Amino acid sequence: MNPTHDPAVGVIGGTGFYALLDGIEQVTVDTPYGPPSGPVGVTTLDGRRVAFLARHGGDHRFPPHRINYRANLWALRSLGVRQIIAPSAVGSLRPELGPGCLVVPDQLVDRTTGRTRSFYDDGAVHVSFADPFCPVGRDAVLRAAARHQQDITDGGVTVVVDGPSFSTRAESRWYAAQGWTLVNMTAQPETVLARELALCYTSVALVTDLDAGIDRTEAVSQHDVFAVFAANIERLRAVVLTAVAALPAQPACDCQAALAGMSVPA
Ligand code: ADE
Repeated sequence: MNPTHDPAVGVIGGTGFYALLDGIEQVTVDTPYGPPSGPVGVTTLDGRRVAFLARHGGDHRFPPHRINYRANLWALRSLGVRQIIAPSAVGSLRPELGPGCLVVPDQLVDRTTGRTRSFYDDGAVHVSFADPFCPVGRDAVLRAAARHQQDITDGGVTVVVDGPSFSTRAESRWYAAQGWTLVNMTAQPETVLARELALCYTSVALVTDLDAGIDRTEAVSQHDVFAVFAANIERLRAVVLTAVAALPAQPACDCQAALAGMSVPA
């Protein structure tokens, strides 16, 4: 992929989403932060260049707290990616949003600790992050879902936890009592690192379980998360592919200007 051509769209696949399309070219990329989670699949879709990276590695070797988020974002950016769509498995904190529901969150709460959440260790680079997700990308996903006649919830707060264990019932009830909607283990620092590279970032969340404290459900199990994701991946993939093709070729939203006027260390 030549970064001097039209900007590319990146797709970062989460748990259960290890390939975008069959048989696409795989590119090995190195970065100043070390290797990303795996090779990047590159292709052209309806005239748009697309780069796909499996967040956990193609064989799910990296748990959420061991992912090299900086390397992943940097690798995509170095291939010319300017906009990211990130399909992810999430737990639900709302009984009305059960397994199989699709949500496009509009807010985040970061409960992770000790993860590297910046590219800029020297100098003062404070990007705006009030609205962590790209409004244009969110709109593209909502329209794509409508086109595929898929119900999708517009908005919601994702609380990001370290894991790798799922939350206790008390934690889960507390998150729900705060008014938060979804729980996941990877949306941070991925989202803020994307903003630090002035990339648009849109999360497409597939609910795989009701979290432990919700509606007096069973404990969350890894088996259920994978099974529900597998049962829903084709509809999620259809929405993602349609959204990718609908993104503007030359994005002009505020995400792209995140570093404007800042002196960013080389
Ligand atoms: N990913 C999928 N389900 C989850 C849950 N209940 N908690 C945290 N991350 C998740």
